[in-house]
Amino acid sequence: FGRSTWSLIYSGIFLRMCFRFVDLHICDSVLYWDKGFRFVTTDVLCPNLPACNSSHVTLATQADAKLAQNQTFLRIQNLVKREEEEFQFNFTVCWSNLFADYNNVLQVTQTLEMYRLLGVQHVVVYNTSCGPDLERLLQSYTQEGFVEVVPWPINQHMNPSRGWQPREHGGDIHYYGQLTTLNDCVYRHMYQSRYVLLNDIDEIIAPYQHQTLPQMMDVLQRQNPKVGGGLRESHFEPSGRFERPSWRDVPGINIMAHIYREEPDYRISHPFKMIVRPRAVEQTSVHSVLRNFGQTVKVPPNVCHIIHVRVPLRRGLMKEELHEDKRVWDYERQLVPNVDKALEKAGLLIFGRKE
Ligand SMILES: *[C@@H]1O[C@H](CO)[C@@H](O)[C@H](O)[C@H]1NC(C)=O
Ligand SMILES: *[C@@H]1O[C@H](CO)[C@@H](O)[C@H](O)[C@H]1NC(C)=O
Ligand SMILES: *[C@@H]1O[C@H](CO)[C@@H](O)[C@H](O)[C@H]1NC(C)=O
Ligand SMILES: *[C@@H]1O[C@H](CO)[C@@H](O)[C@H](O)[C@H]1NC(C)=O
Repeated sequence: FGRSTWSLIYSGIFLRMCFRFVDLHICDSVLYWDKGFRFVTTDVLCPNLPACNSSHVTLATQADAKLAQNQTFLRIQNLVKREEEEFQFNFTVCWSNLFADYNNVLQVTQTLEMYRLLGVQHVVVYNTSCGPDLERLLQSYTQEGFVEVVPWPINQHMNPSRGWQPREHGGDIHYYGQLTTLNDCVYRHMYQSRYVLLNDIDEIIAPYQHQTLPQMMDVLQRQNPKVGGGLRESHFEPSGRFERPSWRDVPGINIMAHIYREEPDYRISHPFKMIVRPRAVEQTSVHSVLRNFGQTVKVPPNVCHIIHVRVPLRRGLMKEELHEDKRVWDYERQLVPNVDKALEKAGLLIFGRKE
């Protein structure tokens, strides 16, 4: 992927022991901290030499023209500079990574439809594998064009870990190589999307003072012109409303029935998620940008935070200790019929099934 000053020529995965053989004397390689695994993710950034007018790049173990003939060369993308106005999308969401038999159809549908109401035009998901119903749903959304599925068959090349601790979770590489997919998504959308939202599939980055993300970003961008943004995460507990009969047989969590937010324990450092301007990012991690051209602003939770429906982090919390949060209900009138329509289109709604 090309850049004006530096080119990220490779965001990918190395066998850790081989890494020292890579000749990088004009380049700068940045290994991530995903230590302890057999494979490590890394970005290789090389200076963009205008005189060279390079169109393809490769990584070789020796600088040798003859050996280079047998190398696989990758085309440098993003070489042509485009105008700021020419964005195909204003808001793109990047989800990494779909794996195992994840089949949380109801939550994914509600999340996608919620994002649509919030002004997102494009959702990208890196797919290693998924459950049968989610497969149908994603195919339906892909046909329509709202969702783009990027194949990520990392399990065919190594044994990816489901976690970040090799001792605890085993495997050859942290969390299905998430750091590579996130960087890939940012670079892929550098000239396609004004903003990119980096979050997990069970999270919604939601505005609390504005109806939509464009409205919120307009205000934030005016206040902080050089900024991407970082957002606080929150967690929810079940409350038991919005148990719609038609959704009863749809697999997955009903996020509309989760309205209690677990207030984070601020004594422990709390993770952030991000909305970034992809052109300002050189390298990203999960909770922060590692190298960028602009500045970062931590957005206060009353302006924007993450709706994250999952099991509670802190055990034994009483209802009184939880904060009620009905933000999703504010979109109910459009959200519920839109979710129904999407499920029906994918053949997943119970009265939509012709069996
Ligand atoms: C660089 O390559 C492009 C396409 O291959 C060509 O059109 C252009 O003239 C070249 N520029 C220079 C400075 O060689
Ligand atoms: C390139 O690959 C071919 C086929 O595997 C092999 O015969 C040849 O020796 C290789 N060339 C170099 C320079 O390694
Ligand atoms: C993106 O936002 C700009 C300015 O608000 C608007 O003019 C444009 O139509 C939007 N593009 C898309 C694809 O919605
Ligand atoms: C996800 O990847 C699996 C494994 O390659 C594939 O069978 C499935 O069709 C993919 N799903 C989608 C929605 O692309």
